[in-house]
Amino acid sequence: MLTVFENPLCATQWCHEQRDRNQTIGFVPTMGALHLGHLSLIKRSIAENDVTCVSIFVNPLQFNEASDYSSYPRDLKGDYRLLADAGCDMVFSGTNRDMFPETTSIDDVKLLDPGPAARGLEGDYRPGHLEGVCTVVERLFKFVGDCRAYFGVKDFQQTLVIQDLAGKLGYPTIRICETLRDTNGLALSSRNKLLSDAQFELAGNIFSALTQAKTLWQSGCRDCDQLRAAMYKTLSGALHIEYADIRDPHQWQAGSPDGTLDRAIALIAVRIDSVRLIDNLRLDDGL
Ligand code: PAJ
Repeated sequence: MLTVFENPLCATQWCHEQRDRNQTIGFVPTMGALHLGHLSLIKRSIAENDVTCVSIFVNPLQFNEASDYSSYPRDLKGDYRLLADAGCDMVFSGTNRDMFPETTSIDDVKLLDPGPAARGLEGDYRPGHLEGVCTVVERLFKFVGDCRAYFGVKDFQQTLVIQDLAGKLGYPTIRICETLRDTNGLALSSRNKLLSDAQFELAGNIFSALTQAKTLWQSGCRDCDQLRAAMYKTLSGALHIEYADIRDPHQWQAGSPDGTLDRAIALIAVRIDSVRLIDNLRLDDGL
């Protein structure tokens, strides 16, 4: 049975009761418009914990464009149905006021510093985005308390920021989950609902570019310029490329490398009209 709370303080109470009964809690934070990618995190949480809870909150602090926030898909009723069918135990949502009770204006919320993992790529192209993510996720962690929290590697830089945040707070335990993809390789995303059929086909080029880089890497290429160039070539067309870059996943602070790497992750952000899509692929076999 799915328990639904529209006030996060009720969720806190529920989580306390679960821990009092020695139940382990899995937590999957989301912004709703749930798809199979979200559900894969939820299924993993259900497999690894006694009870699983999900949050649904479209966080205004992490949208650096008002139109992106207003057009973000919302479907609470549909989400509740999917969660009930998946066997999730509890879902909570809340208003801006519930999440940020210290102020009546969202513009006055004091943002957390997401640290060095927010530098470059998403940090450059979406100023304030990772600050907003970090700020809301800290609140969500405080509502739920100690637990295992599940995040998708699709938002790779977000996972770095959140691992740093959890390290600072001393909880929760973070689990990173693989990316679920559509038939053409496009990473599942709530924003995919905003694409036309033709745009969806075009967006398949993102995964083609990532696999192109991986194939080159597997054939022995370690030259970052060459890997980047291969991705740009595959992406060219009606996509607007924000970045197609190579990084050392364990040395984020080192920035964009000039030379060669032993470990590498390829990361892409594009826009198709107003829809922004990101994806990444680990090139070596590491985790
Ligand atoms: P949202 O975009 O709803 O994503 C919720 C979680 O689902 C994130 O951890 C994301 O990485 C994961 N996810 C998204 N698409 C996925 C896919 N195709 N395969 C596997 N996992 C996928 O990320 C956010 O919300 C927000 O920033 C949030 C952390 C909730 C803070 O507001």
